[in-house]
Amino acid sequence: MIPFTRPFLPPEADYQRYINDMFSRQWLTNHGPLVQSFEEHLKGFLEIDYCHFVANGTLALQLAFKALALEGEVITTPFSFVATLNALLWEGLTPIFVDIDPQMLTLDPARIEAAITPETCAILATHIYGHPCDVMAIEAIARRHDLKVIYDGAHAFGSHHLGRSLLDYGDISITSFHATKLFHTIEGGALFTHSAELSERITSLRAFGQVGGAGINAKGSEAHAAMGLALWPWLDHILASRASIAGIYDRWIDHHGLPISRPGMVSGADINHAYYPILLRNEAQLERVLHHLTEQDIHPRRYFHPALNLVGMPEGTAADMPVAEDIASRVLCLPNFVAMTGEDAEQVMRHLEDALQLETA
Ligand SMILES: Cc1ncc(COP(=O)(O)O)c(C=O)c1O
Repeated sequence: MIPFTRPFLPPEADYQRYINDMFSRQWLTNHGPLVQSFEEHLKGFLEIDYCHFVANGTLALQLAFKALALEGEVITTPFSFVATLNALLWEGLTPIFVDIDPQMLTLDPARIEAAITPETCAILATHIYGHPCDVMAIEAIARRHDLKVIYDGAHAFGSHHLGRSLLDYGDISITSFHATKLFHTIEGGALFTHSAELSERITSLRAFGQVGGAGINAKGSEAHAAMGLALWPWLDHILASRASIAGIYDRWIDHHGLPISRPGMVSGADINHAYYPILLRNEAQLERVLHHLTEQDIHPRRYFHPALNLVGMPEGTAADMPVAEDIASRVLCLPNFVAMTGEDAEQVMRHLEDALQLETA
């Protein structure tokens, strides 16, 4: 069996060492030394001034909106995980979907300005699959219209753009350290910003709030930070393993001329290979390919389906998003995780090729 993903765990003794320290200190949460140390590691690696480790990526988004005191309409992408949309709805913000670029699969900057109204306060864009949004175009639009920019970088840890971490863009960027993510703390997330003022507000808001309005409990615990610290020495290995599997897929698709397409990428992108999306011809073909692979005990995933304008919104309140709806109906993510071998990757490709050949036979 080849699952879609399998969480990477450090040697148990390495995790245990951090937990033993926690036991002897009896400091379990409330910004303890392990959380502080993990935040220092993140800041150093990403070269970003302020970093806040929190309980998960969804709360990180909600804290970002609160810290920026957003009210009204937020322009956002219909092609993301449902948490992006849910976070807006939980904070009482009105999502205004703008369709995605058909090649990059990220928010299409050419369509943003037509959606701006006097109620618009911000742009929330997702670096889907860890692929950079067109950050330069988005930031130019935000400057012209005095809007805040938040990036959902749940998939973006380890991706770079124009030599900077992808989490280094926008007023605030967030990431997720959920167990299914490339790098994880079992559950967890983080916010990143260059603003001392925003950082101060986030510090307060994540621990019930004193300045910046009513806060919430979004604190990351010592036990969760311990996982991040125990995994830290493996970060290069994790990134290299993902890249190696992606390289095997790339070469196979190329050499065997498989009739599938892959998303494009803005120039200057250096991605983390957190996901390996392929685009089939249409949904019927995707379903047949998925069925064939599942029969071989290979389990790719329909990430992300359906488009968000079709879920989670009161019926009839979201405009049609033809590009996102089309992409969501025919995109499939192939397995990619550290414990996967080169032979596993070749097996995935062999069966994918068989499935595609059955199509044309
Ligand atoms: C794009 C995106 N945004 C937000 C989240 C939420 O992160 P978390 O699961 O840590 O709450 C996820 C993943 O789960 C995601 O894929």
